[in-house]
Amino acid sequence: MKRTLSKARPSVLALVTLAASLASLAGCDQSSQAYFTATSAPKAEIQRSIDRLDASLATAKDEQKEDIRTSIKNLEEELGALPEKQRIVTTIVDAMFGTPDKPIVLSATGLDANKIRLAAGPTTANQDGNTGGLYRRHCVHCHGVAGNGAGPTAEFLNPYPRDFRHGWFKFKSTGINEKPTDDDLRRILREGINGTAMPSFKLLPAAEIDALVEYVKYLSIRGEVENTLYKRFDDDGIKEMLAGAMKGGEAGDEFRALIIEDLLSDEATGVMATWKRANERIVEVVPRPEVSSEESIQKGREIFYGKGGCVQCHGDSAMGDGQTYYVNDIDATRSNAIKQLVNPSFPMQALKPRNLRYTVIRGPSRDIDLYRRLRNGIDAVGMPAPTIPPEEVWHLVDYVKSLPYEFNEPGPTQSENTRAN
Ligand code: HEC
Ligand code: HEC
Repeated sequence: MKRTLSKARPSVLALVTLAASLASLAGCDQSSQAYFTATSAPKAEIQRSIDRLDASLATAKDEQKEDIRTSIKNLEEELGALPEKQRIVTTIVDAMFGTPDKPIVLSATGLDANKIRLAAGPTTANQDGNTGGLYRRHCVHCHGVAGNGAGPTAEFLNPYPRDFRHGWFKFKSTGINEKPTDDDLRRILREGINGTAMPSFKLLPAAEIDALVEYVKYLSIRGEVENTLYKRFDDDGIKEMLAGAMKGGEAGDEFRALIIEDLLSDEATGVMATWKRANERIVEVVPRPEVSSEESIQKGREIFYGKGGCVQCHGDSAMGDGQTYYVNDIDATRSNAIKQLVNPSFPMQALKPRNLRYTVIRGPSRDIDLYRRLRNGIDAVGMPAPTIPPEEVWHLVDYVKSLPYEFNEPGPTQSENTRAN
């Protein structure tokens, strides 16, 4: 952190909201920690690393044991320091974002406070039938109050509900590592996600869907800030700012404003950077090549089994019997992105590449939705973008759509064994 106090001129509005929120926090002792915050992630992750190292001791060579014991000791110290870390992060995040009943909408997030109000808080209905607390009414039992994907129903579902706090989404029209647009989120809410527990909310009025979309973004942004604070807690600049922010008075306010500047608004690394540019990152859909649909399907099949690399995961039979992934697997040998989709404290769950011979497409399934998904892969689950010219992606779209109807046509690399089954 190079920025200094004198250089930063935080917006007055942000300061005012922040000061007000801190006053209210100071006035009531009721921390939201119990149900809104405190990523279980650091604790679960540290504990799992300790367990793994512990287990490795049994088979380790004698000369390695000393190193392993030292690592375990360091991790245990980290675990010991966690409550204090959590206290500070929670205080700051609460001050910035409020509680589920009284959310604060910082101007730096650009979120619409009226929409957030409609979605947040306890479920209510007035005499005109207007409802509040939409998130708790419709989403909380799966996605959890904090959006941590750990509502009471969550652990029994496969796939697990999304943990919004990491800001990763599967089904979006935007490029690799980009956020979904509001339209993408709206579409997910209206259509649900076929073949999973995520229901369709088509029957809700448009204004309520909009409010829920805004609230999903609020929970994501909040979680991303929280996670960043944990990750960067020991960075010199951040540490100094946190210590300053915990102080009362004007100096504390300035430090808090600096945190907002740094974590949210920074044009390169701030959490808002990717959210704000989502609309500019919608993937361009090139015109379809002019070939007959049979020809296109045939070309798509060649790409699927050839240079597209699809067969590696979806398998010879395209039934999803290739490589299997695991969600919330913190083992560094597997893709990191996957674990950030669901609550890390849940037991590991296998993530099968889809059986493409079923008709069920989970994400939005218009041709242009499929085009964008196949052009970019599904970054959040490690499905890569194929290295083929953009117009050839149309052949993959056509082939994937035809797959459920392509009976008795084993893939060229399919073994006799699988063929018999
Ligand atoms: C019965 C459980 C359940 C309920 C209720 C539920 N969801 Fe979900 N939701 C899920 C599951 C499961 C997934 C993950 C599906 C997947 O990974 O393919 C999910 C995924 C999502 C996603 C991520 C989509 C993506 O592209 O990654 C969003 C956004 C979402 N839900 C929003 C909501 C909102 C808002 C509500 C309330 C209006 C809600 N959900 C209610 C189970 C639920
Ligand atoms: C590294 C493994 C991997 C590779 C390579 C891969 N996929 Fe996937 N694919 C997956 C996984 C995992 C899923 C399941 C995503 C989920 O959780 O919904 C998936 C899902 C899909 C889906 C379903 C999307 C939906 O909305 O339901 C389609 C279609 C698909 N893949 C097509 C392809 C094509 C075509 C290729 C080759 C260009 C390909 N995949 C390459 C792993 C892979």
